[in-house]
Amino acid sequence: MVKIILIQGSLNPDSHTAKLLAATARELDKRGVGNETIDLRDLEMQFCDSRPLREYNESTQTVHKKLADAQGFVFGMPVYCYSVSGPLKNFIDIHSSAMEKKWAGIVAQAGGKSSYMSLGDLAQILAFESHVTTVQPHVYTTYADYDGDELTSEKARAKIQEMLDKLVACLHAAKEENA
Ligand SMILES: Cc1cc2nc3c(=O)[nH]c(=O)nc-3n(C[C@H](O)[C@H](O)[C@H](O)COP(=O)(O)O)c2cc1C
Repeated sequence: MVKIILIQGSLNPDSHTAKLLAATARELDKRGVGNETIDLRDLEMQFCDSRPLREYNESTQTVHKKLADAQGFVFGMPVYCYSVSGPLKNFIDIHSSAMEKKWAGIVAQAGGKSSYMSLGDLAQILAFESHVTTVQPHVYTTYADYDGDELTSEKARAKIQEMLDKLVACLHAAKEENA
C-alpha cells in the first residue's frame, strides 16, 4: 500500500493552506489511500544550517523518518511574495534527502488570483533539491474559495481530484516498477 504525507507549510494559526490540505486529506481517506499530515505549526523546527541530520532535535528526526518511509507527498504552500514561504523552504532544505526521486502534488493558497506562477518555484525547488517530480494540475485557491473553514469552490475541489488521480497513479506505477 502506498502512503502519502501531506505537508502543511503555513505557520498562520488561522491558515487557509491548512483548510485546503484538510480537504485534500479527506479525499485521500475516501479513496482508502494511507495518509498523514505534518503541520509545520506542530513542529519544533530548527533552522537549516547544514549540520548532519543526527544533530537536529528529536522532532526533526521523527519527521525525517516519516518522510523517508512515505512514497509520495502533497505540499500545502502558502504564497509569500510570489514564491514559497520561508518556513516551508527551510523544511525542504532540512529534509530533501528523505524525499529523493519521489512524487508530489502541490496545493497552494494565496491572497489574490495573480500569483499562480509562484507554484513553479516550489516545483523547481523540489526538482533541483530532491529530484521530486510534481504532478499536474497544481491546485491554487484564494479566500473566495472558502466559506468559513470549508473549501467550497467546485473548481478547486475538482482540481484536487484530478491531482490525486495523477499522484496515486504515479505512485502505483513506481511501486510496480520497483517490485
Ligand atoms: C509575507 C507575505 C507575503 C505574501 N505574498 C503574497 C503574494 O505574493 N501573492 C498573493 O497572492 N498573496 C500573498 N500573501 C497572502 C497570502 O498568500 C495569504 O494570506 C494566504 O492565505 C497565506 O496562507 P495561510 O492562510 O495558510 O497562511 C502574502 C502574505 C504574506 C504574509
